Amino acid sequence: MYRSHTNGELRLSHINEEVTLSGWVQKVRDKGFMVWVDLRDRYGITQLIFDEERTPKEMMEKATSLGREFVIQVKGTVIERQSKNKNIETGNIEILVSELTVLNTSLTPPFTIEDNTDGGEDIRMKYRYLDIRRNPVKNNLMFRHKVTMEVRKYLSDGGFIEVETPYLIKSTPEGARDFVVPSRMNEGQFYALPQSPQTFKQLLMVGGMDKYFQIVKCFRDEDLRADRQPEFTQIDCEMAFIEQEDILTVFEGLTRYLLKEIKGVEVAKFPRMQYDDAMKLYGNDKPDIRFGMEFGELNELAKHKDFKIFNDAELVVGIAVPNGASYTRKEIDKLIDWVRRPQVGALGMIYVKCNEDGSFKSSVDKFYTQEDLAKWAEKTGAKVGDLICVLSGETNKVRAQLSALRMELAERLGLRDPNVFAPLWVVDFPLLELDEETGHYHAMHHPFTSPKPGQLELLDTKPGEVKANAYDLVLNGNEIGGGSIRIHDKKTQAIMLKHLGFSDEEATAQFGFLMDAFEYGAPPHGGIAFGLDRLVAILGGQETIRDFIAFPKNNSGRDVMIDAPAAIDAEQLEELGLKLDLKG
Ligand code: AMO
Repeated sequence: MYRSHTNGELRLSHINEEVTLSGWVQKVRDKGFMVWVDLRDRYGITQLIFDEERTPKEMMEKATSLGREFVIQVKGTVIERQSKNKNIETGNIEILVSELTVLNTSLTPPFTIEDNTDGGEDIRMKYRYLDIRRNPVKNNLMFRHKVTMEVRKYLSDGGFIEVETPYLIKSTPEGARDFVVPSRMNEGQFYALPQSPQTFKQLLMVGGMDKYFQIVKCFRDEDLRADRQPEFTQIDCEMAFIEQEDILTVFEGLTRYLLKEIKGVEVAKFPRMQYDDAMKLYGNDKPDIRFGMEFGELNELAKHKDFKIFNDAELVVGIAVPNGASYTRKEIDKLIDWVRRPQVGALGMIYVKCNEDGSFKSSVDKFYTQEDLAKWAEKTGAKVGDLICVLSGETNKVRAQLSALRMELAERLGLRDPNVFAPLWVVDFPLLELDEETGHYHAMHHPFTSPKPGQLELLDTKPGEVKANAYDLVLNGNEIGGGSIRIHDKKTQAIMLKHLGFSDEEATAQFGFLMDAFEYGAPPHGGIAFGLDRLVAILGGQETIRDFIAFPKNNSGRDVMIDAPAAIDAEQLEELGLKLDLKG
């Protein structure tokens, strides 16, 4: 028996018990006549004590020679501590050791395995298994487990069946590039790893499964950000014989259940916002509504004076920064520099201070009267003491820029409180999105999403205006889930694919299996997928999903611990029928 108790378990009620503990040596404090060892495992830390009077000499020596992260086993008696430690749960007791066995030695770890470590990100990624011993990482993984268990419980209790779908498939377009896997048995041919199980879950509906879910890995070859990993996990769900309203109800229920069970937070009915309104009011299809600072469009108020920049702009739009009137000239210049960074890309920023005496001071006083500026204040909701920041330019660009500024200012002003949860549904997404570079339309959600009833005809005339039965679930400014009602008949699916630029042959080659299935009694169906990593991170009060993934990839998509991706040898390449020409 390696242990009778864990290192987080023993209390005053165990005094005088003989116990066996195992774990890692976190710290050794050697006072000569007395040695203390902090013994750690997943459950906590227990203090071991060896002293001259009660411990044999050889064991004292053995104790002092223990190194950090040695794995040891001890037998001993639980005794009351002289000086108690209120910071840990086992802080009232210690173990007077009678037997000490070293189970394994350890090299000195490359960083300290404590809550506040001296190790930088890179080294911790390389030795991720050591980082996992630290509370912040370990707790995140345990938190993720808890969320996952609650998700399974809620869905299973609700009649959903978890079904696994294959990973070696054909491309399922979700807007990213595929990771591909060469087939040895079918030379020159490739599987694609699923960007999502989208087509399979639809086939399960045709198969009559009715209510499906799966906690499943998805793979997308796209540029990485704090909230994106090349492999990530979805809570993927699909239902048959439902309408959009049913999906929103069930999955609002799941989200509310998680907020209650995991965070103890009760949330009223989630607000719903049209995509168009989200863009107009927040410049963003995933607005953070924990705070205001809504956009005020100023075209009518600011154009047709003598200010050329505004006159030339498609959109003039501003936000009110609470208490911003006290910003110094230098601080405002810094803000202007911030919006001009290439990542944001604004050309400049106009500001208006709403002074305490009710007057206004702006950077465009030459062109606008006090009455004009008062109207701007009204439109942006600015109060006395606020600062109005105004950007102008091409509509989509300027909205994205002001949205970035809004989020940055909210962060600086502490308005993004991680303990406040503000979910909302964004609904009525456009069906198609224009790719500015190629001039082609592509599916905003995915090609299987159905247009709103009666809008199919618009596809020919005004494709950009067709709205979809598509919805996103947004939590604190993050898209944590998205889904749609699907097309379930072959004809509509074919029209859709044609509009997305697929020839009949291409459509058949890529999606023939799905369209064929639609001919055998496909029920009306729809669904949603949550990003589990994002959901867990946000519930955990953070936005970097890497911290909630046991073995994440770095920003270049590398696993620096196992050093992947890596070259494969010539023999393996040949077996796969692949030849690499690395010349030039
Ligand atoms: P979508 O592409 O919106 O929908 O993905 C669903 C959710 O998955 C999360 N997500 C990611 N998380 C981490 N890293 C990534 N690279 C990443 N990409 C997406 C997001 C997102 O909301 N098949 C559809 C769902 C459906 O229609 O039912 C789909 O995959 O939180």
